[in-house]
Amino acid sequence: MARILITSAIPYINGIKHLGNLVGSQLPADLFARFCRARGDEVMFICATDEHGTPAELAAAKAGKPVEDYCAEMHEVQKELAAGFRLSFDHFGRSSSQRNHRLTQHFAGVLADNGLIREVSEKQVYSIDDKRFLPDRYIEGTCPNCGYTSARGDQCDNCTKQLDPTDLINPHSTVSGSTNLEVRETKHLYLMQRTLRDKLEAWIDSKTDWPILTTSIAKKWLNDGDGLQDRGITRDLYWGIPVKHGDQPWPGMEGKVFYVWFDAPIEYIAGTAEWADAHGLDNAAWERWWRTDKGASDVTYYQFMGKDNVPFHTLSFPATILGSGEPWKLVDYLKSFNYLNYDGGQFSTSRGRGVFMDQALSILPSDYWRWWLLSHAPESSDAEFTWENFQASVNKDLADVLGNLVSRVTKFARAKFGETIPSGGSFGAQETALIADLGARIKDYEGHMAAMEVRKAAAELRGIWVVGNEYLQSAAPWTVVKTDPDQAQAMIRLAINLIRIYAILSEPFIPDASATMMSALNSTDWTWPTTVSEAIRALAPGHAFAVPENLFRKITDEERAEWQVKFSGIRT
Ligand code: 2FM
Ligand code: ZN
Repeated sequence: MARILITSAIPYINGIKHLGNLVGSQLPADLFARFCRARGDEVMFICATDEHGTPAELAAAKAGKPVEDYCAEMHEVQKELAAGFRLSFDHFGRSSSQRNHRLTQHFAGVLADNGLIREVSEKQVYSIDDKRFLPDRYIEGTCPNCGYTSARGDQCDNCTKQLDPTDLINPHSTVSGSTNLEVRETKHLYLMQRTLRDKLEAWIDSKTDWPILTTSIAKKWLNDGDGLQDRGITRDLYWGIPVKHGDQPWPGMEGKVFYVWFDAPIEYIAGTAEWADAHGLDNAAWERWWRTDKGASDVTYYQFMGKDNVPFHTLSFPATILGSGEPWKLVDYLKSFNYLNYDGGQFSTSRGRGVFMDQALSILPSDYWRWWLLSHAPESSDAEFTWENFQASVNKDLADVLGNLVSRVTKFARAKFGETIPSGGSFGAQETALIADLGARIKDYEGHMAAMEVRKAAAELRGIWVVGNEYLQSAAPWTVVKTDPDQAQAMIRLAINLIRIYAILSEPFIPDASATMMSALNSTDWTWPTTVSEAIRALAPGHAFAVPENLFRKITDEERAEWQVKFSGIRT
């Protein structure tokens, strides 16, 4: 039994995520976790909300709530939605947890002890009316280059020129609109990533099996321009993890917090500790996943994320781990995704363009979304959600192919032979051929799943459903029953067992439908069908079954048209 640690990039706390966010990390991570569990591996699957940083503070202010309360509420909202999409986390933690406070402060402390932290004095814009330092992108003014009046302090969106906030003409705070700004001196901690460059490069070079998308981004950041830069890991904010050296104060850093991107990945570890706490377990229970000196040397660690997160996970977080000099687990395989676009444009959180997780579940059950998103995962390039494509996939793959097979077989069996598996006849040439074909296809499917080739796995699963339909089409028990009822019984016995095999294989993609199939078949035996000739006989003659509710309904043209309009713009 392998031991598999899986983390999904942790979603920001502010706002509900859209389907593009979901398919870029949490959903494929869930697919892989379910597959590993189904094959008997010991799995630890961790996610959390990413709660710190200026956007969280501003969202709380906009909602008129203290940031602590806002985060606690939004965490519950996101947790509910994750459950709605059947994301099977072992723990859905919070980066604001005490566990993360202590671990983040611990890492900063050991990095400093190892000579990898330096203090830097810098100048930053302070908003007197907002009583806070402003990150560059929260300052706007007129671009000195092109005259655009809404240029941000980090970049002009009109002419793309990189800017410093002090370059802007008539700058103002986007938090309050105030122009009462001044430049103040402030001191921050920098992680000396440059010192770790060679170690990082050697580590990345050793990952010869990583997807090209992952390594190309990592190498670009390692080598571009001046190469890897030292990185500020503290901020002048109220909401965050207070800067401390382990559990000791950090002189000169009072009132400052760690940068959100420093503490967020540490939450993967802290989230596992939160899991142990929630189950009344001791530190050894989570350390055996993370500390190679405490049992984690046989763990394989997989991370899932969108491409924009890759630099932080291939360089910054590993710099924290490697720089600590402590035996923490580093990622073994990093699966990254391109972007999912929406109906001819981009998903837009600010404009409410596209389908968001809550909206998706309000119109259709999660399996419909899981199937479409995973079978169209943006792996080798960006992908696009269109309503036409969604409707076609659901209606064809789920309703016509899988759903129809299940309902046709169980209804026919009940009508002709009653609600137990019939015992007549025996398997002939057609059945033997199907068993051999399935054996080969299941091997391919397993291979794609193990390699996290999500689209290929979905295509193979669809193929597996299709050959079942083709078998029924050509065996035609509904015709055979008239002349050779015994043979028809053997066909139906096979077909009902086929439904069980489909339920098990499909569970990582469409867990609810799989559960419905298994419960209709009165089976709790989820053993992975490694040997098809055995699995196809698992439910023996006389075993009771029922006709399940319709597994999937079709999406009508009217619904498609209505939803297309509904999700095209501003959320109401
Ligand atoms: O891009 C995002 O949504 C970030 N909140 C991901 C953080 S992943 C990690 F570092 F924990
Ligand atoms: Zn400009």
